[in-house]
Amino acid sequence: MSEEKIEGIDYFVDLQPETDDFLSTVLDGLSQSQKTIPPKFFYDAIGSKIFDKICEAPEYYVTRTEIALMKEIGEEINSLVEPKSIVVEYGCGSSLKIRALLSALPDPAEYLAIDISKSHLILTIKEIAADYPNLRVGAICADFSDALDWPEQARSEHDQRLAFFPGSTIGNQTPKEALEFLTRMRHMVGDQGSLLIGVDLKKNTEVLNSAYNDAAGYTAEFNLNLLQRMKKELDAELDISNFEHDAFYNEELGRIEMHLISQLDQTIQVGGQNFEFKKGETIHTENSYKYSIEEFSELAQKSGFAPVKAWTDADNLFSIHYMSAV
Ligand SMILES: C[S@@+](CC[C@H](N)C(=O)[O-])C[C@H]1O[C@@H](n2cnc3c(N)ncnc32)[C@H](O)[C@@H]1O
Repeated sequence: MSEEKIEGIDYFVDLQPETDDFLSTVLDGLSQSQKTIPPKFFYDAIGSKIFDKICEAPEYYVTRTEIALMKEIGEEINSLVEPKSIVVEYGCGSSLKIRALLSALPDPAEYLAIDISKSHLILTIKEIAADYPNLRVGAICADFSDALDWPEQARSEHDQRLAFFPGSTIGNQTPKEALEFLTRMRHMVGDQGSLLIGVDLKKNTEVLNSAYNDAAGYTAEFNLNLLQRMKKELDAELDISNFEHDAFYNEELGRIEMHLISQLDQTIQVGGQNFEFKKGETIHTENSYKYSIEEFSELAQKSGFAPVKAWTDADNLFSIHYMSAV
């Protein structure tokens, strides 16, 4: 752990998640019968920028629908959240949605952003600090799948902590992992805390499939960037053009699955080890689980949050849940 001074930011704590275990995770994941690499490794500086392009793709309804809904429910959020709350955002990305939340909140005391993608996180919080000069702004570069302690640099005299987790990033975890994650989040916000979370809804398969297969090819670029990252950081020997992006809704499991499909029989090399692929064999790179309002409320209740209110847009594409600690 190290604390860095970033100009304009009140505090920046680096838990160094990137030095973590990319190599060992890849070696382990490629040794499984269904080859797998977890989605957190999408987000290097390049991956974070490509994700921003996905957010603007016309097929990717998630970002624009959630931002519009946040604006629509601003007054209700204002009446639910105590003044002087500390907002802690998990996986903030470009912090597109926090602006709608900060405008809605009654006099927030502090914004604490958490993300795994360090250089992108620094750019993002610098912008927030510049645009909200009266707000205390801090950040932790960390892997939120690890247990995180409340940083000593963050204000603690204010009891109200609001966890903000937009973008349906919760859907990247299996329901079991999501429950463990929400339980850790509940611990982090404490007994007076609350949660505002964006959750993508189950819907027509065609709408889902086209959202993860945008015509401009941004999602494909995002998925294939993982191979680029393996070449750059792990000296992997592979030809990216021998793989293609694939994403489809698995109705039985209620999730979008993203894969990289091998276009031919081939051998790739990572960390001195060979990995064989048959033509059509895949690396499973992401899940994006979809929930009904009831399914998600039921899951979250097991983690110690009680549902207070849930909203959806007029087309029932996306939901936002407000929950309080019990
Ligand atoms: C799907 S994007 C959502 C970004 C933004 N919250 C939004 O709604 O547009 C997921 C974000 O979470 C971050 N992230 C993914 N896995 C993470 C992990 N294990 N720990 C910390 N951040 C993570 C990524 O860097 C990225 O910024």
